[in-house]
Amino acid sequence: MVVQIVSYNITLFAPGFRFGNKRSFNPFAFFIYFYYFYRKQLIKKTILINFILNNTKTSTTLPPGMLLLDFVRYQQNLKGTKIGCREGDCGACTVLIGELKDGKVKYHSATSCLTPLGNINNQHVVTIEGLNMDELNPIQQAMCEANGTQCGFCTPGFVVSMAGFCLSDKKPTYQNAVACVDGNICRCTGYKSIEHALDKLNAVLADKNLQDPISFVTERKILPAYFNNIESKLKLLAIEQNGKADASNAKRFVGGGTDLYVQQHEAMVYADIDFVSTKAALKGIAQEGYICTIGGATTVSEFAASPIIRQNFKNINQFVKLVSSTPIRNIATFAGNFVNASPIGDFSIFFLALDATLELTDGTSTRQVALREFYKGYKQLDKQANEYISRFWFRLPDNKTLFNFEKVSKRTHLDIASVNTAVNIVVNDGIIVDASVSAGGVGPIPAYLKSTSEFLKGKYISENLVIKATQIAQTEISPISDARGTDAYKRLLLSQLIKAHFIKLFPDLQVEQLISVV
Ligand SMILES: Cc1cc2nc3c(=O)[nH]c(=O)nc-3n(C[C@H](O)[C@H](O)[C@H](O)COP(=O)(O)OP(=O)(O)OC[C@H]3O[C@@H](n4cnc5c(N)ncnc54)[C@H](O)[C@@H]3O)c2cc1C
Ligand code: FES
Ligand code: FES
Repeated sequence: MVVQIVSYNITLFAPGFRFGNKRSFNPFAFFIYFYYFYRKQLIKKTILINFILNNTKTSTTLPPGMLLLDFVRYQQNLKGTKIGCREGDCGACTVLIGELKDGKVKYHSATSCLTPLGNINNQHVVTIEGLNMDELNPIQQAMCEANGTQCGFCTPGFVVSMAGFCLSDKKPTYQNAVACVDGNICRCTGYKSIEHALDKLNAVLADKNLQDPISFVTERKILPAYFNNIESKLKLLAIEQNGKADASNAKRFVGGGTDLYVQQHEAMVYADIDFVSTKAALKGIAQEGYICTIGGATTVSEFAASPIIRQNFKNINQFVKLVSSTPIRNIATFAGNFVNASPIGDFSIFFLALDATLELTDGTSTRQVALREFYKGYKQLDKQANEYISRFWFRLPDNKTLFNFEKVSKRTHLDIASVNTAVNIVVNDGIIVDASVSAGGVGPIPAYLKSTSEFLKGKYISENLVIKATQIAQTEISPISDARGTDAYKRLLLSQLIKAHFIKLFPDLQVEQLISVV
């Protein structure tokens, strides 16, 4: 029986194959083989990816959809970068990526298990090997002295994240140091010893030059001296490479890859990819009056660091901290979050409340779609396959507008939501002039709660109003029971989170009265 199945499969998929006395020819399979062979050759011929790997200029014609993790381990034999989950969760595969921004090299940590080669063209990739010096560097020394390593499997990822912290413009505070390793998981140490190592590192960084961290870490021999030369090397590479890495006839868009490569990392290797994250025109955040425009390929970390966003959303750090981890936020894009169309996508919910408008283009024609009209059904979008999100815009809150975002997940941090929700409320003398309420995890699409929003308009803020709003919200949702909770639990969560919005935004409301009604 087993032999029969093997025989059948081989004859089905092989174009011409001798098995025992049997020979078969399958024109369909022959076509498939030819197609994939041709596609591999096409990709090899047209796409050259150049980057600096540690201190070495590196070029490859391997498929640009190939993962950086596989490239460094199996093509470069740099086995210090470990494979844990391959889903962006554990941080064992963390590398640093340096890119030129306003002429200076800026580094961020990234999970190499979700980063395709096409996204690192013209950039500097640093693996754990690229941090080694003659002696242990002060980061490695701190981990040793504090017993921050036991089995050692997670340690390279931690050390790379800590090196990213040294190279960043972040102050050496306890909170910042802990945040830099929020994407790294250790199963042995219990984290206290790693925290002690972070304290030791902070002492080394006490007088860090935040304007020029690269000079600081090389002068103090925290990281190797070659980091000083990377800026000029990247500038040279950009000139040499100008325009050579563009994929032609690309059929799939990849932003950060943090969704696509979790779902289908093998299928993506030979896909024809348009690496939208590498397009400068799709990045950036600009303000004109009260309108803020954000490039579709802008990352969550770029958003959180933007002075425009920080000035207009005072709690942005608290909101963003609830979304994934530092290395994921460093590469995940907004367009990827919208198109991923997860019913619990945090930024879909965030921007539904802000009534964002998307700009879609196929490269020739351009059209606009309100985010509230974008979702047509579960994972169904008002978007053609060849259209990408170039940018989106929304109205920034003015001094009468209050915004809040809430999320509950099984773990407080680094987890996707059971239910998430946002509100944007314009208030004048205690009356709600305008209101937008959105909610995720309570139906097949990220939802704008139209009836709830309409109900709130023109009313005085009171405990009764909020309770009534939670009841109307219940009529607009259809949660299902799944791993993140039962439908009844999600209904309860949404009611409680709507109350949480109002308690935060209007501290005069009587909390006891609000929570007395479930
Ligand atoms: C460990 C981990 C934790 C996560 N935690 C969260 C979380 O807490 N909250 C959350 O909301 N999400 C989370 N995610 C999901 C994911 O990170 C986000 O949805 C992210 O914003 C996706 O963006 P991306 O650029 O990486 O998308 P990609 O994977 O590159 O693409 C996703 C989809 O969008 C399409 N796409 C990308 N860019 C464009 C464009 N410009 N125009 C048109 N289509 C485009 C792609 O073709 C694909 O269909 C997590 C993921 C991981 C791996
Ligand atoms: S292998 Fe776990 S995050 Fe990459
Ligand atoms: S030291 Fe073993 S997983 Fe961290």
